[in-house]
Amino acid sequence: MSDVSPPLAAVIGWPIGHTKSPVLFRYWLDRYGINGHYIPIGLRPESFESGLGSLANLGFQGVNVTIPFKEKVLAIAHSVSDRAALIGAANVLSFKPGGTIFADNTDGYGFSENVRQQQPDWDPKAGPAVVLGAGGAARAVVSALLKEGVPEILIANRTRQRAQNLADANGARVSVIDWNSAGIAAKEARFIVNTTSLGMTGQPPLPVSIEAASGQTVVAEIVYSPLETPLLKQAKAHGLRTVDGLGMLLHQAVPCFHQWFGVRPDVDAELRKLVLGE
Ligand code: ATR
Repeated sequence: MSDVSPPLAAVIGWPIGHTKSPVLFRYWLDRYGINGHYIPIGLRPESFESGLGSLANLGFQGVNVTIPFKEKVLAIAHSVSDRAALIGAANVLSFKPGGTIFADNTDGYGFSENVRQQQPDWDPKAGPAVVLGAGGAARAVVSALLKEGVPEILIANRTRQRAQNLADANGARVSVIDWNSAGIAAKEARFIVNTTSLGMTGQPPLPVSIEAASGQTVVAEIVYSPLETPLLKQAKAHGLRTVDGLGMLLHQAVPCFHQWFGVRPDVDAELRKLVLGE
């Protein structure tokens, strides 16, 4: 019998019941025949630091981090990747030998990979992007679009100051437009993305018309429940290319799985079906 324990990883959050991460990690472990484990752990905020220390001591490779810890983890990590520092949040922590914790953010990567997989012909450099929303998800999306080479990003958010803060943090290629003008800006946009929670099951639809958008515009979502949001329905009715939000969730996990379990996993139709069915 081997004395080497199988690799372990987890997702931590509070509450943790909503997370879909274990479904996708277990699918990949199974598919690649890896003897490893990935578990959801509800960690009370008051036990956050001690809980993380225990996981590191128990030999966990690392953890995914979800609400409400994504920002808080930056303060306790010993090192932080540039992209996590820029976004101001981490979705993954790796426990390194010697007890150090490395924080990274793969949400922007997940966003870009998802767009690339669903719309391989999208040319980021073709024209401006309109980003709807200015919360945590918007920070990851803006950094991803900048990295892809989008020439200009216009942010529209209900609370204008939040959009301004995001623009200020990202330099001259990013500016703010009025929440009520987002539909007008859609005319020039080559890419439109909703990063707000509007359109999600139980939430009102996004009050933005994309009727003015040209046929070359790609319309993307980060909401994946429902998979076809009112925004995506509207886009399809206008003959626009669309990107649903499910793939961002799946692709952000790819580098985490690779790092912890040694295989770079595929995001395929079967995985999408499995996660949607949950
Ligand atoms: P996340 O980390 O998921 O992005 P968040 O930081 O709470 O969550 O951001 C939620 C985003 O949805 C924000 O852009 C928010 O707008 P405000 O900054 O004005 O709050 C947007 N949002 C949520 N509910 C909204 C609503 N009813 N109308 C317009 N925007 C809404």
